Amino acid sequence: MNMQVRSLTELIGAEIVGVDLGKPLDEATKSRLYQYFADRAVLVFRDQDLDPPRFAAAAQLFGKIIPEQFDNYRLPEYPLVSSLSNRDLEQAGERRAVRGADFHTDHSNYAAPPKATVLYGVEIPPSGGGDTEFASVQAAYDDLPEATKRRIAGLKAVHAYRGARYDRKATDLTPELLAATPSAAHPIARRNPDNGRIGLYLSPNRVTGIPGIGEDEAFALLAGLFDHATQDKYIYRHKWRKGDMVIWDNRSVLHQATTDYDMNEYRYLYRVLIEGERPLAEAA
Ligand code: SIN
Repeated sequence: MNMQVRSLTELIGAEIVGVDLGKPLDEATKSRLYQYFADRAVLVFRDQDLDPPRFAAAAQLFGKIIPEQFDNYRLPEYPLVSSLSNRDLEQAGERRAVRGADFHTDHSNYAAPPKATVLYGVEIPPSGGGDTEFASVQAAYDDLPEATKRRIAGLKAVHAYRGARYDRKATDLTPELLAATPSAAHPIARRNPDNGRIGLYLSPNRVTGIPGIGEDEAFALLAGLFDHATQDKYIYRHKWRKGDMVIWDNRSVLHQATTDYDMNEYRYLYRVLIEGERPLAEAA
């Protein structure tokens, strides 16, 4: 197979050219793709022709799909795959927000959060808007002063569906569903076993605190790390085209949906999450 790889920024992202994800791939190609995923954190495959089963099969080149937590996002005809659109949070005809429009890492409140998220562009706004941004938390960690690395070594943050300073527009949950959502404590400096690097594991809207540290001090520490990690120099901004499949490593990057386009335009993607491990501390 004549696979080519183009770096998207100096730090993260690779576009894979010459691979048709709708067809079976040989073992050597699969393991090269996994290595690029581990090394570059975000992989982009353009011009793919994937229906939900083919999308699921392509995503499963990188691991096992875990079920979407909310039934209403599962595709009725193929529930292993869910949907993501800029109309998801509409209520009674009122558009309130877009899901995921703040830098975060997916489902960090799980004991074993998904290692990867995969999207496929089905309908992209005709104006070309609706980009997704990715920030390299591993490059950001590498650049921290040694004193800050020592300060956060061994510290854990507790993540819940709704953090202590939650200010996100998100899926409304009934009190029963909210009570059923998990919470978990994870290292702030997290090692990715697929590449051995350490990244800042942050998700501001989900954090309830850092055990042993007062809330104001904990949130000031986390805010400083977050501001550092989301500087422009760490970011790749993906401009979607219909037929793009994008996979990213939730241990290596933060991501956010952007909203600077006409919300009357429609944006619709398929989405799956790939099973991950319990987060490892930096010294693991
Ligand atoms: C998300 O997974 O948080 C949304 C990303 C996007 O819609 O671009």
